Amino acid sequence: MWEGSRSILGILTRNPNGFGSSSLLEAARRRGVTSFYFRFRDIIARVGGGPPLQVRGLNVKDINSVIVRPIGRSSLDQAIFRLDALYTMEDLGVHVINKPSAIERSMDKYRSLYLLHKRGIPVPETVVVEDPSIAFEFMRTMPDIVLKPVFGSRGHGSTRISDRDLAWNILREQAFFRHVIYMQRFIPHRRRDIRAFVIGNEVIAAMVRENPESWKTNVAMGAKPKPIKLEGELEDLAIKSTEILGCEVAGVDILLSESGNAYVLEVNSQPGWRGLQSVTKVNIAEKIVDYAILTSKR
Ligand SMILES: Nc1ncnc2c1ncn2[C@@H]1O[C@H](COP(=O)(O)OP(=O)(O)O)[C@@H](O)[C@H]1O
Ligand SMILES: [Mg+2]
Repeated sequence: MWEGSRSILGILTRNPNGFGSSSLLEAARRRGVTSFYFRFRDIIARVGGGPPLQVRGLNVKDINSVIVRPIGRSSLDQAIFRLDALYTMEDLGVHVINKPSAIERSMDKYRSLYLLHKRGIPVPETVVVEDPSIAFEFMRTMPDIVLKPVFGSRGHGSTRISDRDLAWNILREQAFFRHVIYMQRFIPHRRRDIRAFVIGNEVIAAMVRENPESWKTNVAMGAKPKPIKLEGELEDLAIKSTEILGCEVAGVDILLSESGNAYVLEVNSQPGWRGLQSVTKVNIAEKIVDYAILTSKR
């Protein structure tokens, strides 16, 4: 355990005033843990001539744990540098939550789904290609598809297509803009799915997200959260999926098909919890901070 003021918790965030980051800072204050936020642009990485990593005047090796909030939209350079900086943090003995290796795997919708499927987790049938004519051919066996950005979140940019002419135009356009085509069989469902919030090896809270307006059940797409207690098979599915991707904190999306089968859609390695917090008594920020304290290496 940490010893009062000598322990330091960093919150890596784009927006310290956002719901997630401010509730983490508040939870740390209540727990008597010294905490501070920093942004990616605050990171000074050096090779020779000084400490390898500094943020806001602090030598990163003096920080015990860092909680990573959403990395957000970034250029390829930024995405790689940001992950590299997290790897250096780990090298310096900081407990980074989630680990950069876990973030890397989870952010990438193809890699993560492949790993989940390989370990026996049920996931929707998916095809990933660069060539639009190959994608189009697959529409013979998958006539109703969801096209997703490989690095998307919050439901943004996902499109459901069953019209072949429209599909052909969109697929060609995707290729023209050098997007990788990620297409998934549409699973008929009742406009609701499950979000399980996992910390360590435990589902600390869960909700059903219901959206009368759309097949996309993200809270950002207007879905309304309702609390549920996750048990049995669904609970195991959430915990096992989190573990496969190496996440310590995760938001797992589970879809129940009309015929009653469960599919894991994705594991979010930098989950938000505003919607979930509005329907649960569990203080999620406190749970995350407690976990960081308990698992701190120094
Ligand atoms: N294959 C699918 N079939 C039916 N609905 C889907 C499918 N994939 C995603 N959805 C719906 O779209 C939402 C967003 O998909 P998801 O894979 O979680 O990506 P995002 O990162 O945008 O949240 C899901 O919560 C679900 O409601
Ligand atoms: Mg999702």
